[in-house]
Amino acid sequence: MEKGLKLALNHYFLYPALTVIDPALSFTASPQATASAGIDALCHAVESIMSTNSNPITGSLAFEATSLVDDYLERAYCNGEDVEARNGLALASVMAGMAFANTGLCLSHGMAYTFVTRCKLPHGASVGVAEPYVIEFNSPSIPDKVEVIAAGLGLDTQGLSATEVGYAIALRMIDIMETVGLPLSLKDLGLGKKDLEPMVDSLLKNYQRFIVKNPRKPSRDELLELYQTILEGY
Ligand SMILES: [Fe+2]
Repeated sequence: MEKGLKLALNHYFLYPALTVIDPALSFTASPQATASAGIDALCHAVESIMSTNSNPITGSLAFEATSLVDDYLERAYCNGEDVEARNGLALASVMAGMAFANTGLCLSHGMAYTFVTRCKLPHGASVGVAEPYVIEFNSPSIPDKVEVIAAGLGLDTQGLSATEVGYAIALRMIDIMETVGLPLSLKDLGLGKKDLEPMVDSLLKNYQRFIVKNPRKPSRDELLELYQTILEGY
């Protein structure tokens, strides 16, 4: 097996018949853990909406999860004992999980897998680095879905093209991530130009399952360009 490859465990037995969610257990989670887990929930939600496997039921769950993270992540980060915010985030996490367990995830998770092992970053933080740019990349292919994501984030998109809506979503995500102290570019993670080609190769070789669910199928050149954009950030 290739060295340094991030793998995921998945089996029918890992899906519970009954789950008890107690937001009080998260009161003592550090701001950093809250930020990473919260942005991961948001990424699960938006990728579930964008997924080629989405349907009205998963879409409803993911829309609500998007809205809850938008409302509560910054609050829970600033005050871990904000009960309303912790409740909202716990609900968001569960709803986004129910959505993506049925739809699968898209390109951002696949891209994050290629750099998280190079810089030892928590999972959620790594996906967040890629997500804004992938949403903008996908937006021309999913004009209706970016409207749904934008609505979940409370954005006014009147008169905007699909790509402009994608960019507005990206900026809102970056705004949230800045507030909760998450990295915003691959440069922030200490990565450089020399890392990009190997990451494209790894994505194409090892993580096709994320590309398959992505609504816009990227060419190799487009992937390299996307990594370049994420390297510098906006
Ligand atoms: Fe995730």
